[in-house]
Amino acid sequence: MILGIETSCDDTCAAVVTTRGEVLSNVVASQGLLHAEYGGVVPEIASRRHLELVDAVLEDALETAGVDLDAVDRVAVTNGPGLIGALLVGLSAAKGLAAARGLELTPVDHLLGHVLASTLGENPIQPPFACLVASGGHTFLAQVDEPRSYRTLGSTLDDAAGEAFDKGARILGLGYPGGPLIQDAAEGGDPAAFDFPRSYPGDYDFSFSGLKTSLLYKVRDLGEEQARERLADLAASYQEAIVDALATRVRQAITDERVERFALGGGVAANEPLRERVGALCDELGVALWIPPFDLCTDNAAMIAGAARFLDPLPYPEYLALDAAARLA
Ligand code: KG4
Ligand code: ZN
Repeated sequence: MILGIETSCDDTCAAVVTTRGEVLSNVVASQGLLHAEYGGVVPEIASRRHLELVDAVLEDALETAGVDLDAVDRVAVTNGPGLIGALLVGLSAAKGLAAARGLELTPVDHLLGHVLASTLGENPIQPPFACLVASGGHTFLAQVDEPRSYRTLGSTLDDAAGEAFDKGARILGLGYPGGPLIQDAAEGGDPAAFDFPRSYPGDYDFSFSGLKTSLLYKVRDLGEEQARERLADLAASYQEAIVDALATRVRQAITDERVERFALGGGVAANEPLRERVGALCDELGVALWIPPFDLCTDNAAMIAGAARFLDPLPYPEYLALDAAARLA
C-alpha cells in the first residue's frame, strides 16, 4: 500500500495505490476558484492553502481507501518540478508522516508521474511506449523503455498547450480555465475560418507563444463586435491550431520512433478534438492508444504513488535531508 502526496501547483492531492496499481483513493482539493480572480496561480496563496488542506486531504484519502495508517507500507511524494513553496508543504507532510512511522519514502518527479499515469488501473500500458503529456504547466513527448525513467523526445520552448488554451480564452473574454471554455465556444464554429500559425521548432519541440499573439492581433483587427459575433469560428480555429500542432508531432514520433503503444496525459487530454485526432491517427498507424480517466490526467497523487512502484525508496532517516526543487536536473 503506497500513500501518495502531490502539491506541486494549485491542487492539494493525496491517494492510496496498491503495488499492483489499483487506485483505492484519489483525492484532489482544487484551489482553482481561489486563483481564478487573479487569472492564474498565485504561488504564495497556493502554499498557504496547501498547508490548510493537506491534513484533511490525507485523512480523506485513507478513509476513502478504507485503510488506516497501519496499512501503509510506503509514502511517495512529488519533490519537483513545481512551485517551490507549494512542493515544500507536501514534502514536509510526507517526511513527517513517514518518519513518525519509520516508513520508507520515495521522492517522485511530477513529470514521470504524468508519463506513467496509464500504467495504473485494470488495463495498464506496458513499456516500451511513447506518450504526450499536455497540461497547463508542461507539454512534452516522452519515450518510456522501462518505467523507472523516460527520454524526452521534445517539449515546448515557451507556453504549454494548456497555457495556450488558457491565454487564448482570456483574449476571447471567456474566463479560466480556458481549455473547456474554448472547446465549448468552438461548438458549431468552423475550424478553417481563420488560419492561425502552427510552429514546429526543433525535432519534436513545440511553440505556442506565436499562436497566442496571432489570436490577439486577429481579435484587434476584427474589433470587439465582430470578434464577439465570430467567437465560435475564432475558438474553433484556435483550438484546431493547437490540436494540429500536437497531433503532427504525435504522428512524427509514432512513425520515426516505431512506436507500438501510445498514451495521452495531462489536463489537455480532456480535449475532445485532440482525443479524436490522436485516436484516428493511432487507428490509421495501427498503434494501441491509452487515455487515462480525466482524474488521472490532471494533477493527482495516484500517479505519484503509481510511479513510486517502479522507483527505489529511501530508508528512514535518509530522506529527512531531501529538498524540493522547482526544476529537477
Ligand atoms: O494537468 P492540469 O490539471 O494542470 C497542470 O498540471 O497544469 O491541466 C490543466 C490544463 C489547463 O490549462 C486547462 O485549460 C486544460 O488543462 N484543459 C483543457 C481541457 N480541460 C482542461 N484543455 C483543452 N480542452 C479541454 N477540454
Ligand atoms: Zn502536472
